[in-house]
Amino acid sequence: LHAVVIAGARPNFIKVKPVLDALAADGARTSFVHTGQHYDEAMSDVFFADLGLRQPDHHLEAGSGSHAVQTAAVMTAFEPLLARLAPDVVVVVGDVNSTLACALVAAKANVPVAHVEAGLRSGDRTMPEEINRIVTDRVSDLLFAPSPEGVVHLLAEGARPESVHLAGNVMVDTLLACRERARSRPVLADLGLTPGEYGLVTLHRPSNVDDPAVLDGLLTALGEIARRCPLVFPVHPRTAGRLAGRLPDGVRALGPAGYLDCVALQMGARLVLTDSGGVQEESTVLGVPCLTLRESTERPITVAEGTNRVVGCSPTAITAGAFEVLDRPPPPRCPDLWDGHAGRRISAVLGRTLERRARRG
Ligand code: UD1
Ligand code: UDP
Repeated sequence: LHAVVIAGARPNFIKVKPVLDALAADGARTSFVHTGQHYDEAMSDVFFADLGLRQPDHHLEAGSGSHAVQTAAVMTAFEPLLARLAPDVVVVVGDVNSTLACALVAAKANVPVAHVEAGLRSGDRTMPEEINRIVTDRVSDLLFAPSPEGVVHLLAEGARPESVHLAGNVMVDTLLACRERARSRPVLADLGLTPGEYGLVTLHRPSNVDDPAVLDGLLTALGEIARRCPLVFPVHPRTAGRLAGRLPDGVRALGPAGYLDCVALQMGARLVLTDSGGVQEESTVLGVPCLTLRESTERPITVAEGTNRVVGCSPTAITAGAFEVLDRPPPPRCPDLWDGHAGRRISAVLGRTLERRARRG
């Protein structure tokens, strides 16, 4: 089995690690492609070091741009590489532009596509990731859902039942594998933070940070919360340009955190305020209360079976939600199958399915 595995942006590096490891353990040949969607030291290199992720075999150097420019840059660079590699399958993860671009190229080249983290739906098509999810799932041959509602969405949208697999959550595989190493990081001490006495903020969704009026509202809420619980805020590069020194008192900005530091900061936090998909999942597994500053989530299982609450983006709702959580933290719970073995299950299905196809010729 020869699998081409794609990663391009921060959350992708975290998701491909267990898939690459499991494929290697099962004796598959893997070609690892970095699209270059994220390229800064703090958005790319640090994850290779923190995760012990092997260096990519191929780099597409797509870089930043509008949706069309970025998606096209990945597609244009990936098409000839795919023809040269002629793999048995292309594995894409998550919902970023690189995911969509490589899935489309492979589907049109008649190379089977496997989508890891299939079936997530926020129901909000103004979110670029929602378009990426829908289209990627539609053109994929193997669909690996992280949780049961993903399976429900895929079947409701007409996916062939034999293509859909409930695999569990690869991001959780990485989290469980790295938790002890994260615990020994000196980041809290370095920042003068006491465990259980601060909140962690991450914000990067265009709907939250690109519109100055929305961002101002969020900052007002953070300022209110910081009067009761100081906040640390590792700032995503999209957000950095928008903040322009407007942070309220009690909210401390940092550069984007490395993976182990980000996990350490979550583990020590009294609460997490975020619009990230991955952080909703990680805080659930770590049992740390999470408020999602969005109107919807594609990960409702973190609400039904975790510590997450979707509070929306109005400053009063965010502040009220945070005060409630500070007074009465929700009990920790964790979804089934978020057990650290999703990568292995995915590799096993890939091996079985592609072998069967090869036998059929
Ligand atoms: C992308 C994904 C989003 C994901 C996020 C993870 C899409 C549509 N969006 O959003 O789903 O949650 O990554 O972090 O694929 N930039 C840098 N350095 C970098 C990378 C980006 O400075 O290494 C800046 C550039 O100004 C760029 C902007 O960040 O224009 C946005 O980057 P981009 O990858 O287009 O989108 P993200 O907001 O990072
Ligand atoms: N993360 C990180 N440093 C940060 C913010 C997030 O390492 O400063 C990690 C986080 O722990 C999770 C992943 O990045 O593993 C989530 O990625 P992100 O929030 O960028 O994207 P999303 O999950 O929303 O697509």
